[in-house]
Amino acid sequence: MDLNDTLTRPDDAAETKTRKVFVKTYGCQMNVYDSQRMSDALMADGYQPTDAIEDADLVLLNTCHIRERAAEKVYSELGRIRDLKRDRAAQGHEMVVGVTGCVAQAEGDEILRRAPVVDLVVGPQTYHRLPAVVKKARAGHKVVETDYALEDKFEHLPQPQKTVVRNRGVTAFLTVQEGCDKFCTFCVVPYTRGSEISRPVAQIVAEAERLAEGGVREITLLGQNVNAWHGEGVGGREWGLGELLFRLAEIPGLERLRYTTSHPRDMDDTLIAAHRDLPALMPYLHLPVQSGSDRILKAMNRKHTADDYLRLIERIRNVRPDIAMSGDFIIGFPGESDADHEATMKLVRDVGYAQAFSFKYSPRPGTPGADMKFHVEERVKDERLQELQALLTNQLETFTQSRVGMEMDALIEKPGRQAGQIVGRSPWLQPVILDESVGRIGDIVRVKVLSAGRNSLFAEPV
Ligand code: 5AD
Ligand code: SF4
Repeated sequence: MDLNDTLTRPDDAAETKTRKVFVKTYGCQMNVYDSQRMSDALMADGYQPTDAIEDADLVLLNTCHIRERAAEKVYSELGRIRDLKRDRAAQGHEMVVGVTGCVAQAEGDEILRRAPVVDLVVGPQTYHRLPAVVKKARAGHKVVETDYALEDKFEHLPQPQKTVVRNRGVTAFLTVQEGCDKFCTFCVVPYTRGSEISRPVAQIVAEAERLAEGGVREITLLGQNVNAWHGEGVGGREWGLGELLFRLAEIPGLERLRYTTSHPRDMDDTLIAAHRDLPALMPYLHLPVQSGSDRILKAMNRKHTADDYLRLIERIRNVRPDIAMSGDFIIGFPGESDADHEATMKLVRDVGYAQAFSFKYSPRPGTPGADMKFHVEERVKDERLQELQALLTNQLETFTQSRVGMEMDALIEKPGRQAGQIVGRSPWLQPVILDESVGRIGDIVRVKVLSAGRNSLFAEPV
């Protein structure tokens, strides 16, 4: 096309100019992964990611529905975006606004009713249709896509280009499993993410190889129930997550593996053996238990007791003594008494966590817990949460301090906040602050810890 052509056809020129997409991510690591895959799909369609919402032609809020007022937060953000969209329109720019993720799935067209600024609503199972949906929205239609798609979205989502992988750094997430069939009575996931699906071995291995070729050194396998992953392995044999980890550990360049989040019921023998036999599998395990009271565990439909959990950890620690435990707790589930809470405190003391997350129970519409009797008063929840968090903070600090004087490998991830510093990651997920002369991003260096902050370590090479 010559210059004259462009000048005489301004509409076409506008059509081919690069559009910018701004994605805001709420919630869990799977949403972080999903946001990247949505960006990849849109980049393949000519969009460029931007960090400046004011410049965006397409704004996507990738939302979370797991706890308190998640939906309300999205609606108030949409209020701000409405003003922005109006300002952009006044300057002659069109801004398409979309809501994706778990609130999109849970609320559906309700979002269009409550927030007319929204042009498209897309649930987590249909991200591969996003480019087509955006085109429809651009043509002036309101679009809602919240089916559980029949086709495999992972097969249809384009892989990121190598340069994009490189820009994203030396650690990456990789979703291997999605959804959940366990139906814990507090949890919205089976309704927002649908029933459990496992991605096939070949698809996962190909994606991991691609990431490794793009310079990724550490992969965290993701799933709402990641250790329920299963698939057909070599020779048609049924594989679990343990076998998959053994396979991924063979990929050249991939030095570190992690996985999250696990359910205690799905820690099988091979997975425990992987912790024993695979140096690449990092000694850190996020294994939520939610409560230390058997009565509450039963009401939560967890299908295990506090003792099952403690014995499981003992088995894992027997084969991997340096493993650090992490967990999730829900405080104030309906019917929780002082004695139940004390049982949780006792379990935490018995386990000794390196890190843990605790939340006040928040009734999720449509879950069995929301309809249970004897909801716990907010004031009581606050008190119990404070008590538990004080204990967990104490354990975190004890764990961090216990690293001082230790030698360990650190994976260098990024420049430090202060000039001359570089930040690595310990096997236990702690930031390790080093002098930048120690190595380059992507290097794994042997260091000795000199001192520690609350969660970060200061170290020098050995
Ligand atoms: N209320 C409070 N916390 C919840 N979680 C899940 N559902 C709820 C809820 N309704 C917590 C659990 C889970 C983590 C991701 O969020 O601890 O492991
Ligand atoms: Fe939130 Fe759960 Fe959805 Fe992740 S899967 S975004 S934690 S509701």
